[in-house]
Amino acid sequence: MIDRATVEKILDATEIVDVISDFVTLKRRGANYIACCPFHNEKTPSFSVSPSKGIFKCFGCGKAGSAVTFIMEHEQMTYPEALKYLARKYGIEVHEQEESAEDTADRLKRESMIAVSEFASRFYADALFNTSEGHSVGLSYFRQKRGFSDETIRRFGLGWSPSGRAFAGEPAAETLPGAALHSGYKKEYLLSTGLCYEYGGELVDKFRERVIFPIHSLSGRVIAFGGRTLREDKTVAKYLNSPESDIYHKSRSLYGIYFAKSAIAREQKCYLVEGYTDVISMHQAGIENVAASSGTSLTTDQIRLIKRFTNNVTVLYDGDAAGIKASLRGINMLLEEGMIIKVVLLPDGEDPDSFARSHKRQEILDFLSSHETDFIEFKYELLSSTIERDPIRKAELIRDIIETIAVIPDQIARSVYIEQCAQRLGMKEDVLFSEVARVRRKRIESGQFEQRRREEAAARRAMAAEAVRTADGEDAGPGAASKDAAPEQLSGGSMAAALSPVPLLEPVERELVYYLLKFGEFSLTFEDSKIYGAETPVMRITVAEYISAQLQDDDLELQNPLYRKMFQMYFPIREQLLEEDSSEAGREPEVLQARILRQFVNCQDPQVSVAVVDITEAKYVLNVKEYIKSQIPERNTIDANVPKAVLVYKLKYVEHTCSQLMARLARVQDETGGAVLPSLGDETEQPSGESEQQEIMHHLKLLLQIKNVLVKDLNRIS
Ligand code: CTP
Ligand code: MN
Repeated sequence: MIDRATVEKILDATEIVDVISDFVTLKRRGANYIACCPFHNEKTPSFSVSPSKGIFKCFGCGKAGSAVTFIMEHEQMTYPEALKYLARKYGIEVHEQEESAEDTADRLKRESMIAVSEFASRFYADALFNTSEGHSVGLSYFRQKRGFSDETIRRFGLGWSPSGRAFAGEPAAETLPGAALHSGYKKEYLLSTGLCYEYGGELVDKFRERVIFPIHSLSGRVIAFGGRTLREDKTVAKYLNSPESDIYHKSRSLYGIYFAKSAIAREQKCYLVEGYTDVISMHQAGIENVAASSGTSLTTDQIRLIKRFTNNVTVLYDGDAAGIKASLRGINMLLEEGMIIKVVLLPDGEDPDSFARSHKRQEILDFLSSHETDFIEFKYELLSSTIERDPIRKAELIRDIIETIAVIPDQIARSVYIEQCAQRLGMKEDVLFSEVARVRRKRIESGQFEQRRREEAAARRAMAAEAVRTADGEDAGPGAASKDAAPEQLSGGSMAAALSPVPLLEPVERELVYYLLKFGEFSLTFEDSKIYGAETPVMRITVAEYISAQLQDDDLELQNPLYRKMFQMYFPIREQLLEEDSSEAGREPEVLQARILRQFVNCQDPQVSVAVVDITEAKYVLNVKEYIKSQIPERNTIDANVPKAVLVYKLKYVEHTCSQLMARLARVQDETGGAVLPSLGDETEQPSGESEQQEIMHHLKLLLQIKNVLVKDLNRIS
């Protein structure tokens, strides 16, 4: 974990224009800079950067935040990764907080393993271009046989592992073990990474005489290798891969994910292929949102890795029987994770590699989009030729598809598939519905869903810890994730977490947050206690205190979880800032408010950061502010407008509760009227229909009275 003082130093040094300019060409416009937004496709610029405020905002797609958020989004990094990136950019030394001796030892070990892997990667790349064996054997293979450009070769860090024999009259080039030991890398790590093994007291390079594909972690560090032999000899394995180790977990890595992640997030789609060459050829053809599961069949952890960036996966497989089988195996797992999956079967005899090499980018994209089918189509087409005349096979197919639909977590998605399936197979929808329901019930009873939920939670934690461990540079130990932040906040996945705001309350809740963030530290003075009812100000009260007291008094909770979180964050942030600087100047409302806002904009949770910019920079007029004429400085109007915003909020809240009660009342009346349906309510103790009705009516009457009072109050101050 990076200590606070360092975080402050990093934020102080960070110039947002400078940071964003590394990725986007910014044009000056007045006090701000504009560009075409890197997060969505557009022709006219709606992406704006404010150097004075240190924020960016796209008026097209709504992305907004600080320099840190920008790096997190654009480079798909976690918060600590983004901070370290900025620290490196501005030459700030990062101090990690204390870790246990054991954690330190583990971390150093992993760092040493990564260091030797990165050395090996450089060594192999150098041997490819700069030894005559590498040049005439390896490089010419990549160029001629595979059609890779030098740019592609360098981008993916491809290499050659020297044979250690004389070549074409030249003396033998040095092999990896010797070079690594000479450069001071330890034998221990050459062994634990699986780069070398011992044979007759000598260290031998596992990949010798092979072309090399380095495997990168999500953050771009080299953690493993694949090596392909160029011999035709059928007795040598075509591909060798690094073994599992402390830095390489096959089932949690995807080949190419580092090079693909930005494109995956941007295109909101990930193409899944089989191997190294598929990824590289697709990239070279200009399609970068591609990753490979590398030999193994797809695992849940790999799917979750993709899920951090998108829910849409298109599996590309060659038309051979093995490929089809493999893709069918992966499908249920993808669906179970809530992914939206499509399948593309390539033309006979083609794999993604050969297909990408023989077609232009647009041809490939056209082919993919016109041949994408969802899994029902896919299964149906695969098996339909055999089912026409065979009722037993048809029943099997139906059962198979029902089992598959039943694992989809989202109810609406399930209904869509059921509808489609009914059409395709000429079946009644309600039959399918009840079949799917039956399968789900069985799964629930057998505890399968519960188990999956537990697994998923465990995997999220592991992945968050991993993200911290394999992040760039000197990483925090394995415990860091839990000390630092909730795992959900660390993973990019949190960006997709659903909010459940109530539409009626949304604008008013937003307005309260607006006043909190912009004027929280400013004092309210009440001129007439009668106007504002009971809260006669005997002493000055700040906007932040006023709003929270008002909410607390009436036991009101903001319905939007993000806004609730921002309220919860406010006072702790304020306390901390005052602890750091409680001087007269530091306590000035303007100064303190600016400091608080800055903490919010630069906080860990990108959702909060985005929302803060969005709310405080809002271009549209908030509903109460409609009344305000722009001549009056806003801070002079808060005395009236903050209480008004609170009143409007309460009023809307009451309306919202009323409508909920009305709906419940209608339900109860329905039930008692019909008197046949068992109650669907989840209360354990069910009052009889009649007394429940009375209770609701009573409650409603109370609320209407409250509403009247609020309306009167509001009329008085408007
Ligand atoms: N692959 C692998 N291990 C193997 C065979 C294949 O990991 N034993 C993966 C590799 O990632 C490879 C992809 O599957 O990129 C495609 O396999 P294949 O076409 O057999 O490999 P190529 O190197 O393309 O061989 P060829 O030139 O014969 O097509
Ligand atoms: Mn091939």
